[in-house]
Amino acid sequence: MKVLVTGGAGFIGSHVVDRLQACGHAPRIFDLVQSLHHDPDLVETKLGDLSDTVALAEAMRDCSAVVHLAAVSDVNDVVANPDRAELVNARGTELVLEAARTNGIRRVVYASTIWVYGGATGVEPLDESTLLTRPPHLYTATKLAGEMYCHSYAELYGLQPTVLRFGIPHGPRARATSVVATFVRRASDGKPLVIMGDGLQTRQFIYVEDLAAGILAGLTPVAAGRTYNLVRDELTSVREIAEIVRDLVRDVPIVYTAERQADLENRVISGTRAWHELDWRPRTSFRQGVRRYVESLSVADGTPSSTISSRISGSAATVMRQEPETL
Ligand SMILES: NC(=O)c1ccc[n+]([C@@H]2O[C@H](COP(=O)([O-])OP(=O)(O)OC[C@H]3O[C@@H](n4cnc5c(N)ncnc54)[C@H](O)[C@@H]3O)[C@@H](O)[C@H]2O)c1
Repeated sequence: MKVLVTGGAGFIGSHVVDRLQACGHAPRIFDLVQSLHHDPDLVETKLGDLSDTVALAEAMRDCSAVVHLAAVSDVNDVVANPDRAELVNARGTELVLEAARTNGIRRVVYASTIWVYGGATGVEPLDESTLLTRPPHLYTATKLAGEMYCHSYAELYGLQPTVLRFGIPHGPRARATSVVATFVRRASDGKPLVIMGDGLQTRQFIYVEDLAAGILAGLTPVAAGRTYNLVRDELTSVREIAEIVRDLVRDVPIVYTAERQADLENRVISGTRAWHELDWRPRTSFRQGVRRYVESLSVADGTPSSTISSRISGSAATVMRQEPETL
């Protein structure tokens, strides 16, 4: 099956491309930039902007499905440039759905986020039937707009979108500003790990290759028109992340600094629906995922720190972003 992967050069998208290839599918990347992980001679690549409707429609030609990941995914970029975020995340998703409709493609998998549960009330764990509240964050607003467009295109035009709400991805190719990448870099440089607050705040991480498998499961017929959380049950605190990194990389001190406002409330999200309906389960523990991340950095020249600084651009961030780097 030929599958267009918007954002296929990105962190998650590059793993989706790998997984599609491994499963015998033919991925085609649509992205602003050339992938650092795929040779364009080996993986068909169309460079373009979502707002270029001609390029987008052309990129979808002969595809059976679209995995739509392209977005302004860094919450700090969203805050810095809300117009751009709205254009790419909200309108860009509408343009993807419209291009799919005009190309006769019914299956679109849309990348949403468990951030949509921010502010939601109800008994935890929260699941896909939880009533959502109006989003306080612009990033969430733009991602929810995309979810709503998926729903409208299903109702009006018979598209069969699948909405996938991702937990916090980690693993090889992760952005330099994510908490794991930051801790690994600092530990390998012999610097203390900086924790804001008491470090007891938790997140539901998902190892990126498990996530890619879940995204492919989202392409199966049973997922048509459905919404799924792709999360692990395991809750991981910042303290635990620090301990794992100290154990795997170097036993550097931990320094606690003043708390800052959290990016995301601590909510427990259920992944049960995806487990039951898609027969998908995250296989990789958080610790295993961190180990694989560290190993992936060491492949090039044996040292995490030099490889990290040379290979990761650091242009994007995720929740649990770690600042400052000055200690
Ligand atoms: N990383 C996370 O923490 C996380 C969590 C939940 C959901 N998501 C969602 O998953 C998706 C992928 O996230 P990621 O972490 O791989 O992000 P990423 O920033 O690594 O990748 C996004 C890709 O989209 C491309 N892109 C951006 N604007 C574009 C445009 N106008 N036209 C074409 N391509 C464009 C970028 O060049 C980049 O390669 C996003 O939709 C994001 O909102 C991410």
